[in-house]
Amino acid sequence: MKLLVTNIAFLAGIQPTDKLRLEGKEMARLETIANAFLYVEDGRIHSYGAMSDLAKCSLPSDVQQIDAKGGSVLPSWCDSHTHIVFAGSREQEFVDKIRGLSYAEIAKRGGGILNSADKLHDMSEDELYQQAMRRVDEVIRKGTGCIEIKSGYGLNTADELKMLRVIKRIKETTPLKVVATFLGAHAVSREYAGRQSEYVDLVIREMIPAVAKENLAEYIDVFCDTGFFTPEETARILEAGTKYGMRGKIHADELASSGGVEVGVRHNALSVDHLESMTAETIETLRGSETMPTALPGTSFFLNMPFALGRKVIDEGLPLAVASDYNPGSTPSGDMKFVISLACIKMRLLPAEAINAGTMNSAYAMGLSKDYGSITKGKVANFYITKPIPSVDFIPYAYTTPIIDRIFLRGEEYIPQTV
Ligand code: NIG
Ligand code: FE
Repeated sequence: MKLLVTNIAFLAGIQPTDKLRLEGKEMARLETIANAFLYVEDGRIHSYGAMSDLAKCSLPSDVQQIDAKGGSVLPSWCDSHTHIVFAGSREQEFVDKIRGLSYAEIAKRGGGILNSADKLHDMSEDELYQQAMRRVDEVIRKGTGCIEIKSGYGLNTADELKMLRVIKRIKETTPLKVVATFLGAHAVSREYAGRQSEYVDLVIREMIPAVAKENLAEYIDVFCDTGFFTPEETARILEAGTKYGMRGKIHADELASSGGVEVGVRHNALSVDHLESMTAETIETLRGSETMPTALPGTSFFLNMPFALGRKVIDEGLPLAVASDYNPGSTPSGDMKFVISLACIKMRLLPAEAINAGTMNSAYAMGLSKDYGSITKGKVANFYITKPIPSVDFIPYAYTTPIIDRIFLRGEEYIPQTV
């Protein structure tokens, strides 16, 4: 398959091959070629340049030509934190929150994650897959090309495996690049109420080996926060996961500054996510580590909570990723363009910083930045063509305007499903 995209107003998000993530000042650079072409071979980016140089390139004759008609091309979004496999929805809790209950109060009453676990238990694997695929189609149409999906609404071995098998099936049946994360320690199940340490033992002794046996997850996650799992429990679970080849990607400092970032960094987690309550002192913990701090501004927006100190993280010279957190409780949206807008408006990131956070750095936070997250020779050709836009900054500025015209994943055009 050979594909030539011509008449691109701005080809944005170009990176050299040796970059795996961007930090500090680098994040404000979004290298762009005006009036450009992009050439793809066998699903990978082969070359690109200015239209004026196209004649100099000797391209084969059997090339499919796509006229971008003055639209721009950007690398697809990489959404490094989602829970899109879930059963039903939780709008009743949305109303409860408007009436004054907090996310933590709803969880304490046995709602929240446990509510989703009940629904998931009663749903067939097939129905769960069908529901998730509708969300997959939705996020692809919004420009996402790589996604991380977590388990964590099973909370017993059989139902966690059921979720992970659905994730595997999604992996095998969509053009999205999918990575799977095991999140058995998302909450203590109803059966284990009041017996948290026994539940942690169950995660370690039964769930992790079962997940590893079927090779169902690349990463392991723990909801390390006040009212959920402690840093000590998180450390034990991360150590157990590491033994089976699953690296940490953890929920940290969402509800309180509670030691999650520290334990994540200590165990070389690939990312620490949420960070709504992360303090300026904790930021220092990240310096010199391989751990990607990941903000989820959609969660702050939906739960009406403080936003992570993203501006400060970048000003301190560190990297930052952003992701959606798409889930039924705290963020029922996987709209990465809106996440980028929130990163600009609420965390004071420049558009270039926010776009890099939701492409290159979020690809890094899934272990995928060697192959995804930028316009780079040799990377997988995951990109979208916009309608004509006046500038790249227009993307987060026009925060509800749909801008995508055509979508290409693995070098092939994505034709939206009608489900
Ligand atoms: O990332 N914080 C923990 N887990 C999810 C929410 C899960 C839910 O409420 O269903 C999150 O926000
Ligand atoms: Fe989450």
